Parts: sequence; C-alpha cells; structure tokens
Amino acid sequence: MTTTYSAPGKIYLFGEHAVVYGKRAVASAINLRTVATVRESNQTRITSSLGTTGIDYMVHPYISRCIESLSVPEVSVMIDSDIPVGSGLGSSAAAVIATLGALNSEFGLGMTRAEIAEVGHAIEREVQGAASPTDTFVSTMGGTIMITPGGLSPVSAKLRLIDCDIVIGDTREFSSTKELVGNVGVLHERYPTVMNPVFDIIDSFAEVGVPLIENGDYRGVGELMNINHGLLDSIGVGSAKLSALVYAARDAGAWGAKITGAGGGGCIVALADEAAADSVVQAIADSGGHAIATSASEEGVAAR
Ligand code: PMV
Repeated sequence: MTTTYSAPGKIYLFGEHAVVYGKRAVASAINLRTVATVRESNQTRITSSLGTTGIDYMVHPYISRCIESLSVPEVSVMIDSDIPVGSGLGSSAAAVIATLGALNSEFGLGMTRAEIAEVGHAIEREVQGAASPTDTFVSTMGGTIMITPGGLSPVSAKLRLIDCDIVIGDTREFSSTKELVGNVGVLHERYPTVMNPVFDIIDSFAEVGVPLIENGDYRGVGELMNINHGLLDSIGVGSAKLSALVYAARDAGAWGAKITGAGGGGCIVALADEAAADSVVQAIADSGGHAIATSASEEGVAAR
C-alpha cells in the first residue's frame, strides 16, 4: 500500500526565541506544505531533494529518526516540499509531521494528533538540541495558534485564522536555528538582567495581540510585529539583509513586518491587505529577496 500525507509550514507572528524560555508565542500554519509518501518495502529508502539514502543521520536526520523512533518495518519514504529549507518556515517540522502521519496510517499505529505532535517535538529536540514545540504543534494542528510551552505538553489556544495576505521574504541565506538559539543563550547567561525583561515584553505580545487577532485588527497586529522585530534585532538575530526586506515591505504598505523564526538569515514575514500585497511582493523582490505570497491555513497534518 502507498500512503500520502501532507503537513504545513508556519510563520511566527510573535514570540520566537522567547518561547525557548517558556514565554508565549503566536504562530500560524501557512499554505506551503510538505508531502510525505510512504510504502512498505524490502529496503528502507529515503528520497528528497537532498538525494536518496537509507537511514542516514547526515543527509536525512529527521526522517531517519521518524522511522527509527516508530520502530516500523522496512519502508520507502519520499519527501516533496514547497517550503524552503533552513529558512525559518518550519520545513523540518513539516517533513517530520507529514512522515509521522503517513507512517501512522500505513502501519496502523493508532497515534492521535496530540501524540503525533509530541513524538514530532521529541524528534526535533533529538536532532537539533533545543527546540520549542511551536513548529511541530502548528504543523500538526494547523490554524493560528497561541502556544505556551510547558515540558512535553504545551498549552495551546486556537485563535481566529489570520485572514489577510501574508507575504514572506526569503533572504536565501541559510540560518542554523541551533546556532542562533545558542547565541541568544550566551547573551542570556551573560546579561540575565537585561535579557529577561526583553523576553517578558515579547511574552506580552501574546496578551495584547490575541484580542487584535480575534477582532481581525491586522493594523494593530502589524504594529506589534514591528516592535517584536526591533526586539529580535536587539538580541542579535537580525541582519542587514533581513532588515532591508522588513523596511522594503513596510515602505510598500505592509501593516507590519518582522523576522520569522530563528533569524540570522532565513525569512521575514509581512502582513498586508489585498490592495498592498502586490506592492509588498515587488518591493521585496526589488530589495534582493525571494518573495512568496501566501495565506494562513486551517489544515494541519492530513491525508492527501
Ligand atoms: O527558524 P525556525 O523555524 O526553526 O524557528 C526557530 C524558532 C526559535 O524560537 C528560535 C527556536 C524554537 O525552537 O522555537
């Protein structure tokens, strides 16, 4: 039998990095998805844009870990994704969650969605060291979500789905989440008195931003995103290229724009109304970024 599942990538409206310190974050699944097709086979094979391997922790660490952690028989897994890799859009989580969903169905493992999210989070932690539950949780459940990390079982609240245009600007510079989280950790250890209040302010975006999201007040959400961007810059995860894309998007009429994900390279996200979205896409392209126009998605991991 062949089983195909897909799972979405995500953007952070607020809260990346602070979420690693237990603070609240708000993220949304987007209409960029990764598809995993699995089939029982006489030899384990993993195929993606990176090539074809067996269990291989150098080339395919996430998928290798999915197969091994579920102790399934020999299987072929094919990954196909529209999510740029290593860019802060949750490509690894989407690949993990789509693969877990497909393996769960192919081998009748009976895992619930909550269990898939939990196993997915454990795999991300094992492969990359520290990882918040945000990416795996949002990819499993879909929608716009406020997440409060808490050990193995994060507390989450589903919010009204963001229903304005979302424009992503990709610097196409690879960024290592592990390295960026490590750099912030060094600052936090050195200057806890400075860094803790920054994380507290980032936490407050959830409190102030959630009612704005519920009211569809994207002008307000955008203003908070702009403040969040400044704070991300202040903790050392910005770059000249990221800021160039952020300012290009704002100047072109976006309601707000910020880094999304770990920073360093990777992507920015901008919210815009329909009238401004095309200009935002153009402005990002003119500033040397790769622009992707997308929208929020209610659909989490699903058979396809
Ligand atoms: O760049 P991404 O999509 O891997 O997101 C990283 C977000 C951080 O908060 C920096 C780390 C985490 O695990 O939440």
